[in-house]
Amino acid sequence: MKIAIIGAGNIGSAIANGLAKGDMFKASDIICTAQSVETLERIQKMNAGFQVTHDNKMASKEADIIVIAVKPWRVEEIIEEIRPSLNFDKQMIVSVAAGITFDQLNSFLTKNSGFDECLATPVIFRIMPNTAIEVMSSMTFVAARNASTEQTDLIIRIFNELGNAMLVEERLMTAGTALASSGIAFALRYIRAAIEGGVELGFYPKQAQEIVVHTVKGAVDLLLENKSNPEMEIDKVTTPGGITIKGLNEMELSGFTSAVIRGLKASK
Ligand SMILES: NC(=O)c1ccc[n+]([C@@H]2O[C@H](COP(=O)([O-])OP(=O)(O)OC[C@H]3O[C@@H](n4cnc5c(N)ncnc54)[C@H](OP(=O)(O)O)[C@@H]3O)[C@@H](O)[C@H]2O)c1
Repeated sequence: MKIAIIGAGNIGSAIANGLAKGDMFKASDIICTAQSVETLERIQKMNAGFQVTHDNKMASKEADIIVIAVKPWRVEEIIEEIRPSLNFDKQMIVSVAAGITFDQLNSFLTKNSGFDECLATPVIFRIMPNTAIEVMSSMTFVAARNASTEQTDLIIRIFNELGNAMLVEERLMTAGTALASSGIAFALRYIRAAIEGGVELGFYPKQAQEIVVHTVKGAVDLLLENKSNPEMEIDKVTTPGGITIKGLNEMELSGFTSAVIRGLKASK
Protein backbone atom coordinates (compact mmCIF):
# COMPACT_ATOMS: atom_id res chain seq x y z
CA MET A 1 0.00 0.00 0.00
CA LYS A 2 1.37 3.42 -0.98
CA ILE A 3 0.47 6.80 0.46
CA ALA A 4 1.10 10.22 -1.11
CA ILE A 5 1.34 13.30 1.06
CA ILE A 6 0.64 16.31 -1.11
CA GLY A 7 2.18 19.28 0.72
CA ALA A 8 4.52 17.73 3.27
CA GLY A 9 4.93 20.85 5.44
CA ASN A 10 4.53 20.90 9.23
CA ILE A 11 1.64 18.49 9.53
CA GLY A 12 2.30 16.54 6.32
CA SER A 13 5.90 15.74 7.24
CA ALA A 14 4.85 14.86 10.80
CA ILE A 15 2.35 12.37 9.33
CA ALA A 16 5.05 10.95 7.02
CA ASN A 17 7.50 10.57 9.91
CA GLY A 18 4.92 8.94 12.15
CA LEU A 19 3.85 6.51 9.42
CA ALA A 20 7.45 5.52 8.75
CA LYS A 21 7.88 4.65 12.45
CA GLY A 22 4.74 2.47 12.43
CA ASP A 23 4.14 -0.99 10.97
CA MET A 24 1.71 -0.22 8.15
CA PHE A 25 4.00 1.60 5.71
CA LYS A 26 7.66 1.31 4.78
CA ALA A 27 9.38 4.67 4.19
CA SER A 28 9.65 3.77 0.51
CA ASP A 29 5.83 3.51 0.35
CA ILE A 30 5.52 7.16 1.40
CA ILE A 31 5.67 9.79 -1.35
CA CYS A 32 6.02 13.39 -0.18
CA THR A 33 5.53 16.48 -2.31
CA ALA A 34 6.24 20.14 -1.64
CA GLN A 35 6.67 23.32 -3.60
CA SER A 36 10.24 24.28 -2.68
CA VAL A 37 13.52 22.42 -3.05
CA GLU A 38 14.34 23.32 0.58
CA THR A 39 11.29 21.48 1.93
CA LEU A 40 11.96 18.39 -0.18
CA GLU A 41 15.60 18.37 0.98
CA ARG A 42 14.50 18.69 4.60
CA ILE A 43 12.09 15.76 4.19
CA GLN A 44 14.72 13.62 2.50
CA LYS A 45 17.08 14.37 5.41
CA MET A 46 14.40 13.24 7.90
CA ASN A 47 14.24 9.85 6.20
CA ALA A 48 16.33 8.89 3.17
CA GLY A 49 13.75 6.20 2.33
CA PHE A 50 10.94 8.64 1.52
CA GLN A 51 10.18 9.28 -2.14
CA VAL A 52 10.16 13.04 -2.67
CA THR A 53 8.97 14.97 -5.70
CA HIS A 54 7.50 18.26 -6.91
CA ASP A 55 5.25 16.27 -9.22
CA ASN A 56 1.86 16.09 -7.47
CA LYS A 57 0.26 14.24 -10.40
CA MET A 58 2.83 11.46 -10.43
CA ALA A 59 2.67 11.13 -6.63
CA SER A 60 -1.15 10.92 -6.73
CA LYS A 61 -1.20 8.41 -9.56
CA GLU A 62 1.10 6.00 -7.71
CA ALA A 63 -0.70 6.04 -4.37
CA ASP A 64 -3.63 4.13 -2.87
CA ILE A 65 -4.23 6.91 -0.35
CA ILE A 66 -3.75 10.59 -1.19
CA VAL A 67 -3.38 12.92 1.77
CA ILE A 68 -3.96 16.57 0.93
CA ALA A 69 -1.99 18.56 3.50
CA VAL A 70 -1.63 21.98 1.86
CA LYS A 71 -3.07 25.18 3.38
CA PRO A 72 -6.87 25.33 3.07
CA TRP A 73 -6.84 28.04 0.38
CA ARG A 74 -4.61 25.84 -1.82
CA VAL A 75 -6.84 22.73 -1.71
CA GLU A 76 -8.95 23.60 -4.75
CA GLU A 77 -5.97 24.30 -7.03
CA ILE A 78 -4.18 21.14 -5.87
CA ILE A 79 -7.25 18.99 -6.57
CA GLU A 80 -7.62 20.71 -9.94
CA GLU A 81 -4.03 19.72 -10.70
CA ILE A 82 -4.18 16.07 -9.59
CA ARG A 83 -7.77 15.30 -10.66
CA PRO A 84 -6.82 13.84 -14.08
CA SER A 85 -4.47 11.34 -12.35
CA LEU A 86 -7.06 10.09 -9.85
CA ASN A 87 -8.97 6.83 -10.02
CA PHE A 88 -11.90 6.97 -7.61
CA ASP A 89 -12.48 3.21 -7.95
CA LYS A 90 -9.14 2.43 -6.34
CA GLN A 91 -8.01 5.47 -4.39
CA MET A 92 -9.04 7.25 -1.23
CA ILE A 93 -8.66 10.98 -0.64
CA VAL A 94 -7.79 12.21 2.85
CA SER A 95 -7.95 15.94 3.56
CA VAL A 96 -6.22 17.52 6.56
CA ALA A 97 -7.27 21.04 5.58
CA ALA A 98 -9.13 22.76 8.41
CA GLY A 99 -12.57 24.04 7.48
CA ILE A 100 -12.78 22.56 3.96
CA THR A 101 -16.04 20.58 3.99
CA PHE A 102 -16.97 17.31 2.31
CA ASP A 103 -19.31 19.22 0.00
CA GLN A 104 -16.44 21.47 -1.11
CA LEU A 105 -14.01 18.56 -1.50
CA ASN A 106 -16.56 16.57 -3.46
CA SER A 107 -17.30 19.48 -5.76
CA PHE A 108 -13.56 20.16 -6.35
CA LEU A 109 -13.02 16.46 -7.10
CA THR A 110 -15.89 16.12 -9.55
CA LYS A 111 -15.82 19.63 -11.09
CA ASN A 112 -15.84 20.05 -14.87
CA SER A 113 -15.75 16.33 -15.44
CA GLY A 114 -18.55 16.77 -17.98
CA PHE A 115 -19.78 13.27 -17.29
CA ASP A 116 -20.13 13.31 -13.49
CA GLU A 117 -22.76 10.59 -13.41
CA CYS A 118 -20.34 8.14 -15.11
CA LEU A 119 -17.56 8.71 -12.60
CA ALA A 120 -17.17 6.57 -9.50
CA THR A 121 -18.00 8.51 -6.36
CA PRO A 122 -14.89 9.75 -4.58
CA VAL A 123 -14.19 8.19 -1.20
CA ILE A 124 -13.20 11.10 1.00
CA PHE A 125 -11.98 11.38 4.57
CA ARG A 126 -11.45 14.51 6.59
CA ILE A 127 -8.95 14.18 9.39
CA MET A 128 -7.99 16.61 12.12
CA PRO A 129 -4.81 15.69 14.01
CA ASN A 130 -2.91 17.83 16.49
CA THR A 131 0.79 18.66 16.68
CA ALA A 132 1.49 15.65 18.93
CA ILE A 133 1.31 13.60 15.72
CA GLU A 134 5.04 14.40 15.57
CA VAL A 135 5.60 12.15 18.60
CA MET A 136 2.90 9.63 17.58
CA SER A 137 0.56 10.87 20.27
CA SER A 138 -2.06 12.82 18.31
CA MET A 139 -5.73 12.89 19.12
CA THR A 140 -7.02 12.66 15.55
CA PHE A 141 -10.62 13.06 14.44
CA VAL A 142 -11.72 11.19 11.33
CA ALA A 143 -14.92 11.80 9.33
CA ALA A 144 -15.84 9.70 6.31
CA ARG A 145 -17.91 10.21 3.16
CA ASN A 146 -18.83 7.43 0.71
CA ALA A 147 -16.42 5.06 2.47
CA SER A 148 -17.04 1.37 3.17
CA THR A 149 -16.55 -0.01 6.68
CA GLU A 150 -13.28 -1.62 5.54
CA GLN A 151 -11.97 1.66 4.14
CA THR A 152 -12.95 3.55 7.29
CA ASP A 153 -11.33 0.87 9.49
CA LEU A 154 -8.13 1.18 7.48
CA ILE A 155 -7.93 4.95 7.91
CA ILE A 156 -8.69 4.63 11.64
CA ARG A 157 -5.96 1.99 11.97
CA ILE A 158 -3.46 4.25 10.17
CA PHE A 159 -4.15 7.18 12.50
CA ASN A 160 -4.33 4.97 15.59
CA GLU A 161 -0.68 4.19 14.88
CA LEU A 162 -0.03 7.92 15.26
CA GLY A 163 -1.86 8.25 18.57
CA ASN A 164 -5.59 7.87 19.07
CA ALA A 165 -8.12 8.21 16.24
CA MET A 166 -11.85 8.79 16.75
CA LEU A 167 -14.52 8.50 14.05
CA VAL A 168 -16.96 11.42 14.25
CA GLU A 169 -19.66 13.00 12.14
CA GLU A 170 -18.45 15.90 10.04
CA ARG A 171 -20.49 18.36 12.14
CA LEU A 172 -18.19 17.61 15.13
CA MET A 173 -14.92 18.37 13.32
CA THR A 174 -14.91 22.03 14.39
CA ALA A 175 -15.68 21.19 18.01
CA GLY A 176 -13.00 18.50 17.88
CA THR A 177 -10.50 21.03 16.58
CA ALA A 178 -11.17 23.28 19.58
CA LEU A 179 -11.01 20.44 22.10
CA ALA A 180 -7.99 18.57 20.74
CA SER A 181 -6.03 20.71 18.23
CA SER A 182 -6.28 24.01 20.09
CA GLY A 183 -6.64 21.82 23.19
CA ILE A 184 -2.91 21.04 23.12
CA ALA A 185 -2.24 24.76 23.68
CA PHE A 186 -4.80 24.89 26.51
CA ALA A 187 -3.21 21.92 28.30
CA LEU A 188 0.22 23.51 27.83
CA ARG A 189 -1.07 26.79 29.28
CA TYR A 190 -2.12 24.93 32.47
CA ILE A 191 1.36 23.38 32.58
CA ARG A 192 2.97 26.79 32.16
CA ALA A 193 0.83 28.28 34.94
CA ALA A 194 1.68 25.42 37.31
CA ILE A 195 5.41 25.83 36.55
CA GLU A 196 5.19 29.53 37.42
CA GLY A 197 3.42 28.61 40.65
CA GLY A 198 6.12 26.02 41.36
CA VAL A 199 8.81 28.66 41.06
CA GLU A 200 6.91 30.85 43.52
CA LEU A 201 6.78 27.85 45.88
CA GLY A 202 10.60 27.60 45.76
CA PHE A 203 11.61 25.33 42.86
CA TYR A 204 13.95 26.28 40.02
CA PRO A 205 12.07 26.53 36.69
CA LYS A 206 13.67 23.34 35.32
CA GLN A 207 12.73 21.39 38.44
CA ALA A 208 9.23 22.88 38.41
CA GLN A 209 8.76 21.80 34.76
CA GLU A 210 9.94 18.26 35.50
CA ILE A 211 7.56 18.06 38.47
CA VAL A 212 4.54 19.47 36.63
CA VAL A 213 5.05 17.44 33.44
CA HIS A 214 5.28 14.19 35.39
CA THR A 215 2.34 15.14 37.60
CA VAL A 216 0.18 15.78 34.52
CA LYS A 217 1.41 12.56 32.93
CA GLY A 218 0.51 10.72 36.16
CA ALA A 219 -3.00 12.22 36.08
CA VAL A 220 -3.46 11.12 32.46
CA ASP A 221 -2.09 7.62 33.20
CA LEU A 222 -4.52 7.26 36.13
CA LEU A 223 -7.49 8.08 33.89
CA LEU A 224 -6.31 5.76 31.11
CA GLU A 225 -5.23 2.83 33.33
CA ASN A 226 -8.14 2.98 35.76
CA LYS A 227 -10.68 3.90 33.04
CA SER A 228 -12.00 6.35 35.61
CA ASN A 229 -13.11 9.97 35.37
CA PRO A 230 -11.46 13.07 36.87
CA GLU A 231 -13.94 13.40 39.77
CA MET A 232 -13.22 9.83 40.92
CA GLU A 233 -9.48 10.48 40.95
CA ILE A 234 -9.90 13.92 42.59
CA ASP A 235 -11.98 12.35 45.39
CA LYS A 236 -9.00 10.13 46.25
CA VAL A 237 -6.79 13.21 46.81
CA THR A 238 -9.18 15.50 48.61
CA THR A 239 -9.21 14.70 52.34
CA PRO A 240 -12.17 16.46 53.97
CA GLY A 241 -10.94 19.75 55.37
CA GLY A 242 -7.53 19.12 53.75
CA ILE A 243 -5.21 21.27 51.72
CA THR A 244 -6.08 19.91 48.23
CA ILE A 245 -9.76 20.87 48.42
CA LYS A 246 -8.73 24.30 49.69
CA GLY A 247 -6.48 24.72 46.64
CA LEU A 248 -9.16 23.49 44.24
CA ASN A 249 -11.81 25.78 45.70
CA GLU A 250 -9.46 28.74 45.49
CA MET A 251 -8.86 27.96 41.78
CA GLU A 252 -12.61 27.74 41.18
CA LEU A 253 -13.15 31.06 42.96
CA SER A 254 -10.79 32.52 40.36
CA GLY A 255 -12.93 31.01 37.58
CA PHE A 256 -10.80 28.02 36.55
CA THR A 257 -13.52 25.73 35.06
CA SER A 258 -15.43 28.62 33.61
CA ALA A 259 -12.25 30.03 32.00
CA VAL A 260 -11.51 26.68 30.33
CA ILE A 261 -15.07 26.28 29.00
CA ARG A 262 -15.18 29.88 27.77
CA GLY A 263 -11.81 29.42 26.03
CA LEU A 264 -13.00 26.23 24.31
CA LYS A 265 -16.21 27.89 23.12
CA ALA A 266 -14.30 30.93 21.86
CA SER A 267 -11.99 28.78 19.74
CA LYS A 268 -14.84 26.97 17.97
N1 LIG B 1 -0.18 22.66 11.69
C1 LIG B 1 -1.13 22.06 12.41
O1 LIG B 1 -1.05 21.89 13.62
C2 LIG B 1 -2.38 21.54 11.71
C3 LIG B 1 -3.30 20.76 12.45
C4 LIG B 1 -4.41 20.25 11.79
C5 LIG B 1 -4.62 20.55 10.45
N2 LIG B 1 -3.74 21.32 9.76
C6 LIG B 1 -3.99 21.59 8.34
O2 LIG B 1 -2.88 21.07 7.62
C7 LIG B 1 -2.69 21.83 6.44
C8 LIG B 1 -1.24 22.21 6.34
O3 LIG B 1 -0.86 23.01 7.44
P1 LIG B 1 0.68 23.15 7.83
O4 LIG B 1 0.71 23.87 9.11
O5 LIG B 1 1.37 21.83 7.73
O6 LIG B 1 1.18 24.11 6.63
P2 LIG B 1 2.62 24.20 5.96
O7 LIG B 1 3.70 23.85 6.93
O8 LIG B 1 2.68 25.52 5.27
O9 LIG B 1 2.60 23.04 4.85
C9 LIG B 1 1.99 23.18 3.62
C10 LIG B 1 2.89 22.51 2.60
O10 LIG B 1 2.24 22.59 1.33
C11 LIG B 1 3.26 22.71 0.37
N3 LIG B 1 2.70 23.21 -0.88
C12 LIG B 1 2.20 24.44 -1.16
N4 LIG B 1 1.81 24.51 -2.44
C13 LIG B 1 2.10 23.29 -2.98
C14 LIG B 1 1.95 22.74 -4.28
N5 LIG B 1 1.43 23.43 -5.29
N6 LIG B 1 2.33 21.46 -4.46
C15 LIG B 1 2.87 20.72 -3.47
N7 LIG B 1 3.02 21.20 -2.21
C16 LIG B 1 2.65 22.46 -1.99
C17 LIG B 1 4.25 23.65 0.98
O11 LIG B 1 5.50 23.48 0.33
P3 LIG B 1 6.76 24.42 0.70
O12 LIG B 1 7.18 24.04 2.07
O13 LIG B 1 7.77 24.02 -0.31
O14 LIG B 1 6.28 25.83 0.58
C18 LIG B 1 4.26 23.19 2.44
O15 LIG B 1 5.28 22.25 2.64
C19 LIG B 1 -3.61 23.05 6.54
O16 LIG B 1 -4.68 22.88 5.64
C20 LIG B 1 -4.09 23.06 7.97
O17 LIG B 1 -5.43 23.50 8.07
C21 LIG B 1 -2.60 21.83 10.36
